[in-house]
Amino acid sequence: MSELDSLPVCIIGAGSSGMAAAKALDARGVGFEGFEIGSDIGGMWRYQNDNGLSSAYRSLHIDTSRGNLGYPDHPIPENYPDFLSHEEVLEWLESYAQRFDLKRHFHFNCKVDRLAPEADGAWRVQLANGDVRRFRAVVVANGHLWDPRLASFPGRFDGEQLHAHHYRTAAPFAGKNVLVVGIGNSAVDIAVDVCKSARRTFLSTRRSAWVMPKYIMGIPVDRWSGFFARKLHLPTPVSRTLVRWLAYLAVGDQQRFGVPRPQHAIWREHATLSQELLPYCGHGWIRMKPNVRELQGAQVAFEDGSVESVDAIILATGYRTSFPFLDPELFQVTEDVPALYRRMAPPQLPGLFFPGLVQPVGATIPLVEVQSRWLAAVLSSAMHLPATGTMAREIDRHANAVRRRYVGTARYALEVDARSYARQLVSDIRRGEASI
Ligand SMILES: Cc1cc2nc3c(=O)[nH]c(=O)nc-3n(C[C@H](O)[C@H](O)[C@H](O)COP(=O)(O)OP(=O)(O)OC[C@H]3O[C@@H](n4cnc5c(N)ncnc54)[C@H](O)[C@@H]3O)c2cc1C
Ligand SMILES: NC(=O)c1ccc[n+]([C@@H]2O[C@H](COP(=O)([O-])OP(=O)(O)OC[C@H]3O[C@@H](n4cnc5c(N)ncnc54)[C@H](OP(=O)(O)O)[C@@H]3O)[C@@H](O)[C@H]2O)c1
Repeated sequence: MSELDSLPVCIIGAGSSGMAAAKALDARGVGFEGFEIGSDIGGMWRYQNDNGLSSAYRSLHIDTSRGNLGYPDHPIPENYPDFLSHEEVLEWLESYAQRFDLKRHFHFNCKVDRLAPEADGAWRVQLANGDVRRFRAVVVANGHLWDPRLASFPGRFDGEQLHAHHYRTAAPFAGKNVLVVGIGNSAVDIAVDVCKSARRTFLSTRRSAWVMPKYIMGIPVDRWSGFFARKLHLPTPVSRTLVRWLAYLAVGDQQRFGVPRPQHAIWREHATLSQELLPYCGHGWIRMKPNVRELQGAQVAFEDGSVESVDAIILATGYRTSFPFLDPELFQVTEDVPALYRRMAPPQLPGLFFPGLVQPVGATIPLVEVQSRWLAAVLSSAMHLPATGTMAREIDRHANAVRRRYVGTARYALEVDARSYARQLVSDIRRGEASI
């Protein structure tokens, strides 16, 4: 065995992705060590995490229902509700870590400051405490929903402006006129949270979204999509269109509530789920607005010519994907689909892997568990990666499919079709060989 092969693998981050990676490596007998900035596991699901990076707000409930969320060998117990709160997601992750004894592999309060390849193929990891270590591979699981992507509008705003990442509770906005920008899941959750105590709440969107309820006929909406996709084997665009029709029958036309009908088909967007948004618009608690045209001191002008007095703006405009410890010349994610074979491996940087760098319609957490088994198969040599040229062709094919399918904004750089992607990973593992 060469010196390089005898080195352990490094995992950066002890969120759900780092935990799943740890479990999968351990199961294959791959030696590894993990590093985590915070004092405990859970990443973004630990509300007010002392890592300073969690985007969780007090009222956050996951929008994947219980049956679609757990891991095959650690499902969510049936005494949990359909849609877990952040505390319950963390509780379940804690039980996973305990069951597979995962925490012992991690150094907590231990930040990775710098990551660089060495001439012999090893990776040099520099920690914030000054220690430098060598690893044969690095699994980067530092999360991609913590670095705010800010929108900038012309003009000047005199009130308070913050990003959804820093939003915790509605209390600071009581009695105020609040504008929430965006119509992703953060925007609708925050608007629904704020509107009951704010004086007035506005929700501004530049293209709108097909707002799906969390329940249709008492059944969680993702169970309907699961039925169409898994039981009836319908492709995702067809199953999402059928769910939209069902939602129309159950809830009605969202335009009646003032939420514009998007120009794009539902299967071209990431899903926005809210049980409350439409009725709250119906109550007048949330008023829909088009895109912001200009900030005018204490007022905001919108593209439809309306002008409103606003005390606070909450930008729920998504997140940038950042790796502060990695030279951007080596690898970075910009606004386009990143060059990652099977969404994890940069072909020109052997030994570096990025599980969790995906945004599916549906649950991220169980998808990363499949990614982790794929990674563990590679790192235990139970599966082989193809030649660099084949990887590049696979990346191109995926990138073209994403560009064709989804609305063309930065939000979609990491979008994947969970079902076909998971199938591809499982098939690679079974064959012991990943290909195009
Ligand atoms: C508001 C919100 C709601 C969401 N809802 C859902 C949902 O309904 N369903 C779903 O499946 N997904 C949801 N997600 C996506 C969620 O991010 C994933 O579910 C998943 O938990 C992310 O896990 P992760 O481990 O990849 O990242 P994180 O949970 O962000 O964990 C990353 C970890 O890496 C650590 N770290 C970062 N940098 C370093 C460093 N330099 N050195 C050492 N450690 C480091 C961090 O401290 C952190 O603990 C939601 C995300 C947000 C923001
Ligand atoms: N309850 C939950 O489970 C929950 C809650 C929150 C978040 N999440 C998940 O966390 C992830 C991040 O969600 P998110 O809502 O924070 O971000 P997001 O999904 O990226 O949504 C960002 C929103 O802001 C809009 N936007 C971006 N830049 C803009 C600009 N310059 N001007 C106007 N609008 C702009 C986007 O519109 P375009 O579409 O036009 O780009 C989109 O509506 C998603 O995967 C989401 O599902 C889940």
